[in-house]
Amino acid sequence: MNTVVLKVDPRQPESEKIRAAAEVLRRGGLVAFPTETVYGLGANALDERAVLRIFEAKNRPADNPIIVHIAEKEDVYVLAEQVPGIAEGLIDRFWPGPLTLLFPKSEAVPKAVTAGLDTVAIRMPSHAIAHALIAEAGVPIAAPSANLAGRPSPTSAEHVLRDLSGRIEMVIDGGEISYGVESTVLDLTTEPPTVLRPGPVTVEELRELIGEVEVHPAAKAEAPVEQVIARSPGMKYRHYAPLAEMIIVEGPIEEVCLRIQELVDARRGLGERVGVMATEETAARYRADVVKVAGSRRDPRSVAKNLFRLLREFDAEGIDLVVAEGLEPVGMGLAVMNRLRKAAGYNILRVGPDG
Ligand code: TXA
Ligand code: MG
Repeated sequence: MNTVVLKVDPRQPESEKIRAAAEVLRRGGLVAFPTETVYGLGANALDERAVLRIFEAKNRPADNPIIVHIAEKEDVYVLAEQVPGIAEGLIDRFWPGPLTLLFPKSEAVPKAVTAGLDTVAIRMPSHAIAHALIAEAGVPIAAPSANLAGRPSPTSAEHVLRDLSGRIEMVIDGGEISYGVESTVLDLTTEPPTVLRPGPVTVEELRELIGEVEVHPAAKAEAPVEQVIARSPGMKYRHYAPLAEMIIVEGPIEEVCLRIQELVDARRGLGERVGVMATEETAARYRADVVKVAGSRRDPRSVAKNLFRLLREFDAEGIDLVVAEGLEPVGMGLAVMNRLRKAAGYNILRVGPDG
């Protein structure tokens, strides 16, 4: 299959191009498109055969359900069997945007989408291309991140092509995305609601609006997920993984820097190529084969934006070991640490007073 690449203006999506992409979706095809979080791989959510093709293209395990993307808030009432009162405030405040909500599913949602679960995950993206495409398709769009299963989520059309070229009908290249990590997933079928995946809408923001919010142990991701109950099937798979071995060093920054340099020296001494994922504040201190700046320690949002791209770059440069600095797991820092810890297979080194 030849994957068509369509360049679309993210500020003013050209309507004839959006029409062409929507037509592919309506015919049961797969179209990758930008959202404000990461690139998604879309199919008509009401067409079971199209949805099954997503699993095939990505090599996605059949028991990992897919988020349904909508263009109008009202569509939630068609896809969810029941919308609790608490959802309305969340939808008013955070939609369109990077918040996915979990509801009991309605009959309208095919089994393939929810991998047989009785809940459905729904989100309304704010990206102009995503919005225009879903609206033009006229159907809800099932869309996981547009990467091969287990690989870092794509933050550019180039990443999508590297994983899925020849496996899908079309990629819309809409340039850079805004956040760089996937949406926050909030389960509204529990009391209190539970964050299953931390993301750009922070736990702190959710608590401010709705009060008590649990964070699922796997979302904190301090321990391998097998040790906690996996409520969201996606929790139990190794994710975002670079091909290289990866170690996260967490603790007070002075000690982190010293320990990282020790690790780098020891492993280079064994003949390995070692890369460091550093921050603006610390990058100049490291001597390694490759040092990359993820962003500023004072601004975890800047780190989120570069994270997945850097993981892919380390691989492309043939690095054997990536050592990354930990951030404080608060605000967007929790989303970043969740992805980093998973990418490292929970290979975490704690240094300092309590490490
Ligand atoms: O930002 C995002 O959410 C991106 C863009 C493309 O919208 N999408 C995305 O999809 O990250 P995906 O499939 O890579 O991650 C969806 C996560 C998975 O961990 C999956 O297990 C969980 O959401 N999920 C989906 N439906 C669920 C359900 N019914 N119950 C529990 N977890 C669910
Ligand atoms: Mg994914």
